[in-house]
Amino acid sequence: MGAVNAVKNASLGEEIVRRINDLAAFSESGDNLTRIYLTRQLREAADLLLSWMRDAGMSARLDAIGNVCGRYEGERPGAPCLMLGSHYDTVRDAGKWDGPLGVITAIACVADLNRRGKRLPFAIEIVGFADEEGVRFASTLLGSRAVAGTFDESVLNVRDRDGVSMRDALVQFGLDPDHVGAAARTRRELLAYLELHIEQGPVLEAQDLPVGVVTAIAGATRLAARLTGMAGHAGTVPMALRRDALAGAAECIGAIEQFCRTDESGLVGTVGYIQARPGATNVIPGEVSFTIDMRAPTDMHRKRAVADIVRQIEAIATRRRLALQLDVTHENRTAPCAPWLKEQIAQAIGAEGFSVFELPSGAGHDGMAMIDIADVGMIFVRCRGGISHHPDEHVELADADAGARVLLRVIENFRPREG
Ligand code: GLV
Ligand code: MN
Ligand code: MN
Repeated sequence: MGAVNAVKNASLGEEIVRRINDLAAFSESGDNLTRIYLTRQLREAADLLLSWMRDAGMSARLDAIGNVCGRYEGERPGAPCLMLGSHYDTVRDAGKWDGPLGVITAIACVADLNRRGKRLPFAIEIVGFADEEGVRFASTLLGSRAVAGTFDESVLNVRDRDGVSMRDALVQFGLDPDHVGAAARTRRELLAYLELHIEQGPVLEAQDLPVGVVTAIAGATRLAARLTGMAGHAGTVPMALRRDALAGAAECIGAIEQFCRTDESGLVGTVGYIQARPGATNVIPGEVSFTIDMRAPTDMHRKRAVADIVRQIEAIATRRRLALQLDVTHENRTAPCAPWLKEQIAQAIGAEGFSVFELPSGAGHDGMAMIDIADVGMIFVRCRGGISHHPDEHVELADADAGARVLLRVIENFRPREG
């Protein structure tokens, strides 16, 4: 690569880091980053992303579910597009990079093409998905499912922790819940879906590599559990006569951890949210809600593990005389990345002077939904210390820059699948 290119591309990394920090200002809390679906902060972040897309020479709009969508026409207007995407919502107390890195890097690449007046034989579209994390309405990938045309309308009736339904939240956000279907795109419009994302694990760091080629995105199952016993006086009800829902939940959580720990195939299970009611020091908890997130290297393994865990939870509830309600709130099968896209990403990585290294994704990504309408490719960027879903999540500027250079090269050399 020539000296002029090196200078130009170094500024891509700088711009990406600056914008990552700018976007992180839109947060529910001043201390840590929390940007949840259909909140005021998400809307403010959307407006900033839309303005960056327009500055990059794209037409830009908010779609029917709150995704930010930009389009950079090719040599011939109306051509099918190479779609680049990731999400701009976050978990609670999040890092700044999970999601926004992919959206901001994609915008930086298009801005670079635009500065050079370069048009390609295809259009480029960028989508910043409004909900990937699924923090607010239990179900996840809401933004990409709407684009893939697989959005489940029953989620519109799901309520958040404050009792607000998704339907009402969409109205408050300025969107029409009866027109979510308008966000759907078709296979004919897309040549492929590509996503750049922070690795969120320690593998690339251990390999001493800034970027990697993703082989597949592991499937996941999420469940919502509710145990109902009998609330009572903490001083008067003898232990043997209690139907303590929280003690039952604690036993379930211990069983999930034990089950996953003793499995040697890479099965992981997490209880990330729990609420006990009525929630007072001197009252036996009568009702407890908690979530379960289960992932495994293969779908068969995950399904079997979920069935085993469900049996164990049912047995605990029966022995403790607790009523149990257990619902699957999300299920995604493993999404393999397309070999032809892996090859083009590998070529770009090699051309940038890095060793090509392949790795699977344990985390979920929008590609899991997009695979229903397009072949999917993913580039991972090294993550410091493997830390993610945590405020300490970090990407070095040089790695953000390397990711952008690789993505730009993939875009410029992109060859649609033959046949
Ligand atoms: C998303 O970050 C997930 O893997 O849950
Ligand atoms: Mn995440
Ligand atoms: Mn993510």
